[in-house]
Amino acid sequence: MRKICIINQKGGVGKTTTSVSLATGLARKRKKVLLLDLDSQGNLSTCLGKRSEKTMYNLLIDKVPATECASEVEKNLYLVSSDNKLSEAEGIMMGKPNREKILSAVMEDVSEDDFEFIIMDCPPSLSLLNQNALLFADEAIIPSSTESLSFVGLQKMIDLIDESNNTFDHDLMVSGILPTMFDKRNKICMQILSKMEDEFNGMTLDPIRINSKLIEAPGHSKSIFDYARSSRGAQDYRKLIEFVLKNE
Ligand SMILES: Nc1ncnc2c1ncn2[C@@H]1O[C@H](COP(=O)(O)OP(=O)(O)OP(=O)(O)O)[C@@H](O)[C@H]1O
Ligand SMILES: [Mg+2]
Repeated sequence: MRKICIINQKGGVGKTTTSVSLATGLARKRKKVLLLDLDSQGNLSTCLGKRSEKTMYNLLIDKVPATECASEVEKNLYLVSSDNKLSEAEGIMMGKPNREKILSAVMEDVSEDDFEFIIMDCPPSLSLLNQNALLFADEAIIPSSTESLSFVGLQKMIDLIDESNNTFDHDLMVSGILPTMFDKRNKICMQILSKMEDEFNGMTLDPIRINSKLIEAPGHSKSIFDYARSSRGAQDYRKLIEFVLKNE
């Protein structure tokens, strides 16, 4: 079972878009996928047009088994959604022993027979929920938009993962940095992409180009593969799915 967190403390860089596209794409490749929404904004539900009856709150606090919390979105794709109550859950988790490993503990009984992939959409913060994701996941994909401020934050995110691995004796691997919202006509985008490729050599994946279809798709509660299957967004995310499957 592969556990992948889609994480970056910077907001609005394409984490949710990447989570939905990756999870949907893997499910269409006949992989059984569980999507966990670790963000109280609950954006995954909007994107997929579906919420689960039980939420991340029930999973983390009431210890309802993940298989029971998850609702089927489509064939092979399952979701545990979130809402405002997740912030309350985080407050409760703060007071618990081993608070950084609560997600790992509640997911302990979930096996390869249940799901082949667990994809986590993380919030834009350095929160306890993100720390839980970093300790449950064994792979991280870091979406980072191709602009200066994102680039500055990227090294911080990687340092944070190193620090978390060292402190908790974990070995979360950054499997890729995903440049997003890339526009080759924009000089800054070109510069930042080449900086990413220089500085994070071997880790920087093919960019996701800027594409209005990716912005429109959630409004129709559709993945990019259903909303605009031949769009640039769909083409680029297909490459990401191939990359993830190649790593098996
Ligand atoms: N490649 C792209 N081209 C154009 N727009 C994009 C692209 N990727 C994402 N977007 C849009 O940018 C906005 C932010 O994307 P998204 O919600 O995926 O980011 P996020 O990192 O999850 O944000 P947050 O930190 O708030 O959770 C959304 O409106 C989304 O539709
Ligand atoms: Mg998001």
